[in-house]
Amino acid sequence: MGKSSKDKRDKYYRKAKEEGWRARSAYKLLQLNEEFHFLEDFSRVVDLCAAPGSWSQVLSRQTQGRDRTIVSVDLQPMAPIPGVTTIQADITHPTTVDKILSEFGGHQADLVVSDGAPDVTGLHDLDEYVQAQLVFSALQLATAVLRTGGTFIAKIFRGRDIELMYAQLGRLFETVTCAKPRSSRGSSLEAFIVCQNYVPRAGWDPLELLKAKGSTQEYFEKLGLKEPLDSQLQAVEEVRVIAPFLACGDLSAYDSDATYVDTTEYSLDPVRSPVAPPYKTALDLKRQGVIRR
Ligand SMILES: C[S@@+](CC[C@H](N)C(=O)[O-])C[C@H]1O[C@@H](n2cnc3c(N)ncnc32)[C@H](O)[C@@H]1O
Repeated sequence: MGKSSKDKRDKYYRKAKEEGWRARSAYKLLQLNEEFHFLEDFSRVVDLCAAPGSWSQVLSRQTQGRDRTIVSVDLQPMAPIPGVTTIQADITHPTTVDKILSEFGGHQADLVVSDGAPDVTGLHDLDEYVQAQLVFSALQLATAVLRTGGTFIAKIFRGRDIELMYAQLGRLFETVTCAKPRSSRGSSLEAFIVCQNYVPRAGWDPLELLKAKGSTQEYFEKLGLKEPLDSQLQAVEEVRVIAPFLACGDLSAYDSDATYVDTTEYSLDPVRSPVAPPYKTALDLKRQGVIRR
């Protein structure tokens, strides 16, 4: 599929290029903000899994002129964005927390957002599992950097065991909402959890836990979920926690599943090509004969 045809088929893809966003995902954050207004009053924000950087652009542009610190983290290098400090790091690694906190001068964050997505394999169960693990890593990191009352927003896939995740998030945040922006395709299981009013667990130090390299099981137990994970998974069948579901984005916004008639004759170049996309490595390996296809 050429970029011209994608320009025509996907309104948000085209609009992102016209408005200078590095990815169409920018609209997901903007539409979430239309409902939850989290961009209005933060001073310190962490953007996890941020490359190529459209969420960081939103965080920066929407808060221009304000005294705020924006720290963005990704495995991939990111081209610079005005007002944003970028860190190339793995969010699952304990030392990443220290790097973030040092950018905040030891202060805590008001907001942590994560649009993380692992490389998909096409095996749905595996993809769902790896995605859930990435959300838990983002949550673990968030609990180590968020202030009391802070907000955590993360991309999820509404799979089979999502109620377990809602139950666990409900132990740490006063409100947990599952939100679907109009720019996120209705046909996809993608949604965003918006967790407001962080309430740290008494006597529990997330930083200590991260550095102790505890297992996920130990982590849940520390959160006060005493039963083994397996029995929680069974219990979830009986005690279902259903987070309120909210569609976000003005009704006048484009519907990402609709087909629009577009007479555009020309395609636009990407706003910013990725600095070191994984396909470059794949091409190099192919050239060296290490891989065939
Ligand atoms: C969908 S993209 C994020 C798009 C971004 N929000 C934007 O608006 O431009 C998902 C990102 O997750 C990153 N990622 C996946 N696993 C990660 C990890 N363990 N640590 C840091 N970044 C990770 C990938 O490198 C990729 O850039």
